[in-house]
Amino acid sequence: MSSPIERSLVLLKPDAVRRGLLGEILGRFERKGLVVEALELRTMDAALADQHYADHVEKAFYPPLKQFMTSGPLVALVLSGDEVIEVVRAMIGSTDGRKAAAGTIRGDFALSNRENLVHASDSPESAQRELALWFPKL
Ligand code: CMP
Repeated sequence: MSSPIERSLVLLKPDAVRRGLLGEILGRFERKGLVVEALELRTMDAALADQHYADHVEKAFYPPLKQFMTSGPLVALVLSGDEVIEVVRAMIGSTDGRKAAAGTIRGDFALSNRENLVHASDSPESAQRELALWFPKL
């Protein structure tokens, strides 16, 4: 029996919107063969930020991260495809844009470990939690 197609929650962060990189980033995911199941322009409020980043709220970098993530509209999407969680994480590159490999989204377009353009679920468990938070009806 084949396993169901995997889904990932992906955020194109406020810096991606401000810098006009939505088409570039979304195009990479589309050309890879991933499917856009849902897409919404939204502004994260403080409560959603605290829920989404529940694992990070106590960390020193959280207050400026929250400020950044609530600073303007972002694009929330659900991507699906074979092993999408791992595939998208590889495509976005490591957290710090200065260290991310060339050819990855962060490696090609980011110079910060906060304003790093994209968030993507890092495991099936976090995908399930984040999808329920952002797209409860899906
Ligand atoms: P993201 O994949 O959304 O998950 C947590 C986010 O916290 C991360 O991307 C960065 O935007 C931010 N982040 C992680 N580590 C640091 C750090 N050391 N300093 C600032 N921001 C960070």
